[in-house]
This record gives sequence, C-alpha cells and structure tokens, in this order.
Amino acid sequence: MSEKIVVIGAGTMGAGIAQIAIEAGYVVNIVDTEMDFVNRGMGNINKFLKKKVEKGKLTQAQYDDNISRLSGTNNTAEAVVDAVMVVEAVFEKFELKKEIFQKLDSLCPPNVILASNTSTLSITSIAAVTNNPARVIGTHYFSPVPAMRLVEVIRGKETSDATANKTVDICKNFGKVPIVVKDIPGFIVNRFLCLIYNEAANMISNGDAGAKEIDEAMKLGCNWPMGITEIIDLAGVDVCGNAIAAMYQMTGEERYKPSPLFEKMIAGKKLGRKTGEGFYKYDTN
Ligand SMILES: NC(=O)c1ccc[n+]([C@@H]2O[C@H](COP(=O)([O-])OP(=O)(O)OC[C@H]3O[C@@H](n4cnc5c(N)ncnc54)[C@H](O)[C@@H]3O)[C@@H](O)[C@H]2O)c1
Repeated sequence: MSEKIVVIGAGTMGAGIAQIAIEAGYVVNIVDTEMDFVNRGMGNINKFLKKKVEKGKLTQAQYDDNISRLSGTNNTAEAVVDAVMVVEAVFEKFELKKEIFQKLDSLCPPNVILASNTSTLSITSIAAVTNNPARVIGTHYFSPVPAMRLVEVIRGKETSDATANKTVDICKNFGKVPIVVKDIPGFIVNRFLCLIYNEAANMISNGDAGAKEIDEAMKLGCNWPMGITEIIDLAGVDVCGNAIAAMYQMTGEERYKPSPLFEKMIAGKKLGRKTGEGFYKYDTN
C-alpha cells in the first residue's frame, strides 16, 4: 500500500505540496480549519490536474488514480493516522506553528516526520516546542510548487540523520531536487532574494532607476526569466516586504533594513498581482 503524507493548510503551498504528493503515488490527506478551505484547496488541485489531462500531460486513468488517493478533512487527529510524514503549510506565524507542532507531536508516533514549510522561521525553535525534535525538519518548497524544482531541506539542531535522509528521499520521489541547508536566517534562496528585492525597492524609492528599467536590465543582462519587481508583484509586495523585515529582525544587519517603499506600497494596498497593482498595474477582470 502507498505511504501516506498529511498536509496541514490547504492554501497556495499546501495544495501544491498535496498535488505533487498524489502525483508521486502517495496517499494524501489535506487538513484545514474549515471544510470550505479544504474544498477550495482540493478544488484547485482538481483544476490543475484536469488541465494536465486536457494538455495531454496526464491520462484520464492517471487522473482518476491520483484523485482517488486524495482526501480532505478539518480533523487533524483523524488525518494523521498511519502517516509517514506531516507537512505543515499554515500562515507564517510562530505562535500558530507552535500550537500545531505541539498537537502533531502528541498525536503522531515518534517515527512520523514533522516538516514545516516555513520561509523565515527557525526550524530549531519550531522543533524545540516538541518532545521529539529529532523528527522535526524544514522542507521549504517554492511557488508554484508543481513547477519549481527546488526544495530546501533544513536540518534543525536536533534533526536526526534518519529524519533528514527519509525527507530527502520523499522530496526526490516528489520529483524535486532537495538541497540540505543549515538552519540559518533565509536559508539559501531568501538570503539572496531579500537583498535583491530590497535593493530594487531602494533604487526606485531613491529615484536611481524605474521598475521597468531594473527588470529589463536583469532580464537582458543576466538572463533572468522575470524581472525583480515582476517577481515581487507575483509573490506579493507584502510577502516580500515581510520576508525582508524578518531577515532584518533575525540578522540585525543593515543590508536587510527594509526599504521604506514596501511600507508605503503595503499601506496603499499595492500588493502586486493579487490587488491589481504593485510595481505594475494588472487587469483584474
Ligand atoms: N506563498 C509562497 O510563495 C510561499 C513560498 C514558500 C513558503 N511559504 C510558506 O508556506 C506557508 C503557507 O503559505 P501559503 O502562501 O500557502 O499561505 P496561505 O495563506 O495560502 O494558506 C495557509 C492556509 O493555512 C490554513 N490554516 C491556518 N491555520 C490553520 C490550522 N490551525 N490548521 C490547519 N490549517 C490552517 C489557512 O486556512 C490557509 O488555508 C507559510 O509558512 C509561508 O511562509 C510560502
């Protein structure tokens, strides 16, 4: 019988992780606080898989098989029965993650891996709220999960070799390329991205260059597939601004001091594609 993966949080990342897990042949149970949220997440997965069938990337039989291994619930205790790994993908709030990891720690036998998809929080401090930090690990997926190949696998101070090795194997089974990284602020990718996002915002706010010029320069001169501010608009001006603020708070380094432009744009609801305006304007119809 297929191994079971449980995903806590049926939002953007949780639904993406659940999708790649069913496509890799796992049994998946996705959990959220309300059945409406669970159904929205499962509906998104269904939509993406149906599109793959239409495009000939998945057969109808594969679609049926994948969907038959997906279920959803708002009952965590029922969901985690027989799981090999639980992946947490709820809001980026330490207190919430703490509550969830304590609950998972009490519900799951010690051999079940507890993974967090946190972008900025320390895995060691999340693990420290449990009685078994050896089974806690970070798996930092990137958005959109089905398309992005990297998973940063973050070892906390107490994470065991068995937990790390099994996590790497599962990520590979998901079709991803896992890179094991230390539990340091920003891991690898956000360490660089936050600096680059911040520098672009500083340049714009100082009047040194416009968003369009920065984006064209990076695409034409460095072969970036998207411009810096185009990426910020896609990920969310608030999401990127908060990540930079978290980096500044964790490192205390001036180079991460958030550009005032982020605060101004967030206050003006210029959050990027999701609000119809960020560094660029978007047609929301
Ligand atoms: N969005 C990204 O690009 C991205 C990339 C990498 C990592 N992350 C990280 O992934 C995590 C999730 O981000 P997201 O963008 O998917 O957020 P999201 O807002 O789309 O989804 C979060 C989901 O968690 C659910 N939730 C909240 N409390 C819960 C609880 N107690 N039990 C079960 N479900 C609960 C919410 O109802 C919501 O559906 C965050 O830690 C974020 O930092 C996000």
